Amino acid sequence: MNASPNRAQILFDLSDRVAIITGGAGLLGYHHGAILAAAGAHVVLLDLAVANPAMRAEQLQLAHGVECLGLPMDITDEKSIVEAKDAVLEKFGRVDILINNAANNPKVEDQKPGQPWSRLENFPLATWNADIAVGLTGAFLCSRIFGQEMAARGSGVIVNVASDLAVIAPDQRLYRQDGLPDDEQPVKPVTYSVVKTALLGLTRYLSTYWVGQGVRVNAISPGGVFNGQPDAFTAKLHELIPMARMAHKDEYQGAILFLCSDASSYMTGQNLIVDGGRSVL
Ligand SMILES: NC(=O)c1ccc[n+]([C@@H]2O[C@H](COP(=O)([O-])OP(=O)(O)OC[C@H]3O[C@@H](n4cnc5c(N)ncnc54)[C@H](O)[C@@H]3O)[C@@H](O)[C@H]2O)c1
Repeated sequence: MNASPNRAQILFDLSDRVAIITGGAGLLGYHHGAILAAAGAHVVLLDLAVANPAMRAEQLQLAHGVECLGLPMDITDEKSIVEAKDAVLEKFGRVDILINNAANNPKVEDQKPGQPWSRLENFPLATWNADIAVGLTGAFLCSRIFGQEMAARGSGVIVNVASDLAVIAPDQRLYRQDGLPDDEQPVKPVTYSVVKTALLGLTRYLSTYWVGQGVRVNAISPGGVFNGQPDAFTAKLHELIPMARMAHKDEYQGAILFLCSDASSYMTGQNLIVDGGRSVL
């Protein structure tokens, strides 16, 4: 019997690579980490202390048998990112993969009647600044800090997590609530579209900037994940998706593994849209 790995296994093998995931203790970040660990990578989950990245990394390590690390980090604080980078280098000595995944995901359904903060006319400047700081400036800072390590070593991969709303406008009918006047209806916040679209610009910029240093940079644009949203919302959303359903939590793992591994070795600067077909309509 021939026990040597075949080409398919080699392309997706991440043994001994070090993969960093920002917002890694959240809903999708953990699942992205799980597939990379299953492919052999040492996974580092960076997240706010309150999200308990150390505990989530321990779960990954137990489940996949590779050494993982979870560190508290505030992506809006450059010093905190540099400290995380130093800790990763001390433990693993290298960085091969960065997934810029952290984001503010404000729930507009929690908006109180009479306080329609999500509407453009009322959208607080402080919320705009905070959302940009986490989703966009955070991705810029992490790319700069971790990307330099990859460029200096001559190889690496950055994946920016965008959204279907990076390529289509939000359909605000999804968020409407019965009984509210038009000027009090909740809407998808403007920052979500702006941050996600800007990440595609960051992706293209970085892809040519470090192309000579062997760093590939791509984006993924996931559609909505089912996570217990109310039936009234999902029923409306399913109407807009050719596959007529939201994604499962683990359904981006294939695309993430593809983008982070040598399976995508000739791909850079692109946006992989995985949305059940929503954006083709
Ligand atoms: N869930 C979806 O339906 C969906 C769809 C498309 C795109 N996305 C994108 O996928 C990514 C992950 O989404 P998710 O559903 O797992 O959301 P999530 O809210 O569960 O995870 C986001 C993580 O970012 C972390 N974070 C927030 N502020 C931070 C800060 N200052 N410093 C460090 N970490 C911080 C949070 O603690 C959280 O763990 C996001 O970029 C999101 O926009 C999600």
